Amino acid sequence: MRLDKYLAEMGAGTRKEIGKAVRAGRVTVNGQASKNAAMQVTAEDDVRLDGALIAYETFVYYMLNKPAGVISATEDARERTVLDLISERQRKGLFPVGRLDKDTEGLLLITNDGALAHRLLSPKHHVDKVYYARLDGPVGEAEKALFAQGLKVDDTLTALPADLEILTPATEVRVTIREGKFHQVKRMFEAVGREVLYLQRLSMGPLILDESLPKGGYRRLTEEEESAIMNV
Ligand code: URA
Repeated sequence: MRLDKYLAEMGAGTRKEIGKAVRAGRVTVNGQASKNAAMQVTAEDDVRLDGALIAYETFVYYMLNKPAGVISATEDARERTVLDLISERQRKGLFPVGRLDKDTEGLLLITNDGALAHRLLSPKHHVDKVYYARLDGPVGEAEKALFAQGLKVDDTLTALPADLEILTPATEVRVTIREGKFHQVKRMFEAVGREVLYLQRLSMGPLILDESLPKGGYRRLTEEEESAIMNV
């Protein structure tokens, strides 16, 4: 592909910024400065901007700490989306893996790897998702047993067995579900007469929310995290 396209896809800047950098001789290909933005390069070439290696990666993986008030979509005419929070956005084709409600916070994986997303979301795989929830009243052993049995939520949803861990006070819980139906956690609590006042996703499979990420903050997955999710 063209050198300027390669750099733009790797998030090295806008086409205009990249054009300038190339003309200024700040870009090298295999050790030689290249002032030709149309030069053909491949993923095997050593491409550098100001001496820093810009490796060609096909897939990227970000952990986002989703704040309330943004929707889990790629674009929307009226609402802010989770992708509006990713500034390294020259990369095309990013999307959130699954959905969190607009008012739900916490862990959301953003990637351009469709096959991985498919595996993580497939009902066949039963990837554990752990949520922290604050409720409008306490729950106890009865609710725990109902969740553990596989709760009939309504005519359209009987949940798979879920773990309910009751925290202190008993209006706070950690719940582990193995599927991801629409408003699943809220509907499960509604079925036992409780309203979810606050919901935060803490983990998805082996991926655990990095508590040091501020709300709305994101970072690349570490190599360990990347290889852990590849093995799901
Ligand atoms: N369950 C819900 O009810 N909402 C979410 O955002 C995620 C799981």
